Amino acid sequence: MSDDLTITTGTKVEIYQSLLPQIAALLEGEPDLVANLANVAAALKQQFGWWWVGFYLVKNDELVLGPFQGPIACTRIQKGRGVCGTAWQQAKTLIVPDVEKFPGHIACSSFSRSEIVVPIFSKQEVIGVLDVDSEALDFFDAIDAQYLKEIVGLLPM
Ligand code: SME
Repeated sequence: MSDDLTITTGTKVEIYQSLLPQIAALLEGEPDLVANLANVAAALKQQFGWWWVGFYLVKNDELVLGPFQGPIACTRIQKGRGVCGTAWQQAKTLIVPDVEKFPGHIACSSFSRSEIVVPIFSKQEVIGVLDVDSEALDFFDAIDAQYLKEIVGLLPM
């Protein structure tokens, strides 16, 4: 593994396509989940500069804050609460163009305006979520959903 991430410019698809193999290489041969989540959060932050990017992990039937990049965040989220808890409960990716319009949104940071949450599966079960926040409204789309799903799918479980 090279120590440096190659930062790309171009379309969002080109950026994700450059990032995917680099993330695969970062994860290669490393079985530790926390180490891998930490490097994925760092790689995404470094490439995209998002406001907040990180992970929550299911522990004793709640989501607990895991590795992340960005401002401090809420540590525990109940199932069905907020965007993260809803994505967990529904076991599906949620794209929220305006967090103020999402009933029950949990405002860890008053700067977050839009959000995407991607569940992480081990076999059929959700074991955590990837959460990304932007200070811009309507920032995430189906391209982010597709590639972020691929990225979490690279995590060795
Ligand atoms: N906004 C999230 C909470 C997590 S933070 O954004 C980091 C939610 O509603 O679940």
